[in-house]
Amino acid sequence: MTSSPPAIEAHGLVKTFGANRAVDGVDLVVDPGTVYGLLGPNGAGKTTTVKLLATLLKPDGGEARVFGHDVASEADRVRSLISLTGQYASVDEDLTGTENLVLLSRLIGYSKPQARSRAADLLDAFGLTEAAGRQAKGYSGGMRRRLDIAASLLSTPRLLFLDEPTTGLDPRSRNQVWDIVRAVVAQGTTVLLTTQYLDEADQLASRIAVIDRGRVIAEGTKGDLKASVGLGSVHVRLRDPDRRDEAATLLTTILGSDAQRESDPVALTVRIEPGDEPGAAGTATALAADRSATALRALADAGIVVDTFSLGQPSLDEVFLALTDRPATTDEERAA
Ligand SMILES: Nc1ncnc2c1ncn2[C@@H]1O[C@H](COP(=O)(O)OP(=O)(O)OP(=O)(O)O)[C@@H](O)[C@H]1O
Ligand SMILES: [Mg+2]
Repeated sequence: MTSSPPAIEAHGLVKTFGANRAVDGVDLVVDPGTVYGLLGPNGAGKTTTVKLLATLLKPDGGEARVFGHDVASEADRVRSLISLTGQYASVDEDLTGTENLVLLSRLIGYSKPQARSRAADLLDAFGLTEAAGRQAKGYSGGMRRRLDIAASLLSTPRLLFLDEPTTGLDPRSRNQVWDIVRAVVAQGTTVLLTTQYLDEADQLASRIAVIDRGRVIAEGTKGDLKASVGLGSVHVRLRDPDRRDEAATLLTTILGSDAQRESDPVALTVRIEPGDEPGAAGTATALAADRSATALRALADAGIVVDTFSLGQPSLDEVFLALTDRPATTDEERAA
């Protein structure tokens, strides 16, 4: 054995809550220095998987190692290597940004001056300097999330778990969090990211596992995943509702799937089916752009005026449809 161990290696992980197999035989291998995406709907088992890997729950079956250390028998060693930003933020509402970070720094053994300087550095890096003296309960969702991630980076972890770091954030805050994740990885930390958003996994992760009902139903590079899922869809709004049928026929011919007529009388959405082009997996976006350009040209040639056009990435539902022949189901939907 010369190579270093994977950041995470899990085999057949199981966690049951009563009759519910929340994690039902999960295998994972995460290479050091990468962002790995765990993608799945509500109730898929993402948080439970993270808790097993982070030693917060004991597995009922299977085993997992973090940098070669067993999460069950070497839990302390594993804890010294990881940091966790939970889905439910761990900041103390009544403390200010600075107080939160100083307190947590002291808990992990920094001296008072060290804690102050570390807190100030992180608040600065996360754009929270102005808010540093205010109680966290007055922070917006995005600020709170940034404070929470800052807290998880007080000591530089080898492995950072980010559990749905951007759920509920507006696009600007999501972008800020994404930038933070990229910066953390650039410094050598491995990240396991859970998300319900394919575009988030696509932005950040090099490999993705799709998890459904406690099982990994697809795993690979994001190129692999997209190739199996399709190229996304084209959405157009036409000037003239009377030309919609004609446009639908044209788009269906070019893009290879039935145009969906939306309730908006000028709108059409069409999935782009992979054609016969010899395209490598990684060029899915370029291929999608090519095909939609052809479609737009055909509409223009037919004299059909397009007011707005957008090219959408496949949604999580489309991923699930492609992989399982059914949309993603959540806990509530299964219970109903
Ligand atoms: N402490 C618990 N006790 C009982 N059941 C639990 C517990 N934690 C999770 N579950 C159940 O385990 C399953 C997986 O839950 P988990 O929280 O891991 O899903 P998730 O993928 O993180 O979902 P979300 O996207 O909503 O956060 C669900 O059916 C959930 O209801
Ligand atoms: Mg969760």
